[in-house]
Formats: sequence, C-alpha cells, structure tokens
Amino acid sequence: MDQTSIEKTVERAREILDSKGTRDERLYALCEMLRDTVAHYDWVGFYLVEPGKRELVLGPYRGAPTEHVRIRFGQGICGQAADLEKTFVVQDVTTQRNYLSCSASVRSEIVVPIMSGGEVLGELDIDSHTVAPFTDADRALLDTICEMVAPIL
Ligand code: SME
Repeated sequence: MDQTSIEKTVERAREILDSKGTRDERLYALCEMLRDTVAHYDWVGFYLVEPGKRELVLGPYRGAPTEHVRIRFGQGICGQAADLEKTFVVQDVTTQRNYLSCSASVRSEIVVPIMSGGEVLGELDIDSHTVAPFTDADRALLDTICEMVAPIL
C-alpha cells in the first residue's frame, strides 16, 4: 500500500463517516470498503466496549461469522489490545497462545484500539489469510481510521 492508496482510502472513509445513516450502517460500510480495498484484509470488524464493563461486544463486521461475540479484556488478541490500550500486530497467529481462533483460514491479525479522552471505546480488528502481510502502512491507515471513528462511538 503506497501513500496515494492510503490517502484515497482515508478520503473514502471520510465520505462514509460523513454520509447519512446510523452509526452501525456507517461502521458496516467502513468494514466493507476496507475489505474490498485492501487485498490482504479478509475479515474486518469492530468490537465495542460494553459501557461500564471490561468486555468487548462484536459490532458491525464483514467476513465469515465468528463465535467470538463477547470477549473479556485480556482474553485473546482483541482482549489484550483493549486491556493494554495498544495496537497488536500478530504476523503469524500460530505463534500465539492467548489467541481466539475465528476460522482455520486466518493466519495473521491486527487489532487497533479506538481511544477517546484516554479511554478505550472499542477496536478495529482485521484478520488476514496471509502470513505476515502487515506493514507500517497498515498501521498508519488503521490508526487514522480509528481516530476518525472515535467521535461516533
Ligand atoms: N482472533 C481474535 C478474536 C476475534 S476474531 O478474529 C473475529 C482474538 O484472538 O482476540
């Protein structure tokens, strides 16, 4: 992903976030756009923090259905990212012990927390069927998108 593709994708994300529709419709459209735009994004979804609880609830997503609709902080890659409030990039999921498998096809994962006022509100989770596909360009793109999404959560 070069700088121009990142900028175009961010522009498209801005259009989606500014469009009419409910929060979840816009989040779903973002998942769809990201999955269609980036070849190595096979599952794209949002997990949202249950207010007052240290638990994530599956929000809009695009990709294969997952059994992991609720994840406690600390559990799996998603729960660790929420607990530590930091991005997790796992280039090969077979190396992880604290990992929740969603499908046998998944080989790698990136989870970016969505923060506001020092608090984690949710996260953007992306699974790939490729080993080690994620670069600094993915982090830059997804950090920007998460900052853009925070105000609507
Ligand atoms: N793999 C994640 C669980 C979510 S599914 O990938 C959609 C984890 O380890 O937290």
